[in-house]
Amino acid sequence: MTQDQASTAFPTPLVLAGAGKMGAALLRGWLAGGLDPAAVTVIDPQPSPEIAVLCAERGLRLNPDAASPAGALVLGIKPQVLDAAAPALGAWIGPDTLVVSILAGKTIADLKRRLPAARAVVRVMPNLPASIGRGATGAVGSPEVGPQARAAAERLLARSGLVAWLDDEALIDAVTAVSGSGPAYVFLLAEALAEAGVAAGLPPELSEQLARATVAGAGALLDADAREAGQLRRDVTSPGGTTAAALAVLMREGALPDLMREAVGAAKRRAGELSG
Ligand SMILES: NC(=O)c1ccc[n+]([C@@H]2O[C@H](COP(=O)([O-])OP(=O)(O)OC[C@H]3O[C@@H](n4cnc5c(N)ncnc54)[C@H](OP(=O)(O)O)[C@@H]3O)[C@@H](O)[C@H]2O)c1
Repeated sequence: MTQDQASTAFPTPLVLAGAGKMGAALLRGWLAGGLDPAAVTVIDPQPSPEIAVLCAERGLRLNPDAASPAGALVLGIKPQVLDAAAPALGAWIGPDTLVVSILAGKTIADLKRRLPAARAVVRVMPNLPASIGRGATGAVGSPEVGPQARAAAERLLARSGLVAWLDDEALIDAVTAVSGSGPAYVFLLAEALAEAGVAAGLPPELSEQLARATVAGAGALLDADAREAGQLRRDVTSPGGTTAAALAVLMREGALPDLMREAVGAAKRRAGELSG
């Protein structure tokens, strides 16, 4: 977090609609970041026991009867419940309310159609590691999002990890295909490496342990070292060595780089099909 982000106040009153996996993770991050619990309202018709206890113990409002315009309304509901939820959520939106949506596939235009009072809207595409503060999030704002609203949105997203602003909303399908869906590709890599280890003679449990620690360790190294991924790879590959033998298979025509391009293309196409 930069000094500017750290010193920007949270937009309050803050309303979170949908305190499921992603919403609850954001909420916990805000509270850990110093957001006053008394400034928070949580809307979730069937909150999990953890959320109900958190609200009761820390003094957050949960499902109040009356609504009034918020400083920010963060949408953490599933995209398929937007139509049903929108009329009630609209009551939390005034001309100065910043609306932040993490709904996959819902464009800024979709959101404004369902929430006609909304002006400044930030659409974000987080990924699963955001729940441990190690996410990669793409964000794009409607034209009404000025520097102040953008700083407020960054304040809300800062504890999720990397936040990359996009100039063009059309890029969000590609962001979805790379970072939104990306953690699953890495989990598959760990699975495939463990299976290959078993095929090479390792006991399954040991192979799983080694593969998991290797993927996690390589990820941590990538994070800690400023060198590009390709440079790190070249630096651990001695000519004629074991890594070079494996990479010759992984990088041959039709193998991993070609497959990844095809996979990301398929995810991007699917993101486009699911939008609306
Ligand atoms: N999980 C991810 O990795 C990920 C990544 C990128 C984007 N997203 C986006 O994040 C959003 C939330 O995903 P999630 O995995 O956190 O889903 P989730 O765990 O199902 O959370 C959604 C929450 O909203 C609640 N809800 C349902 N109707 C509501 C209403 N009318 N008003 C307020 N709350 C309502 C749900 O309650 P019930 O359970 O009782 O229905 C649930 O607690 C989705 O739009 C998804 O596209 C998720």
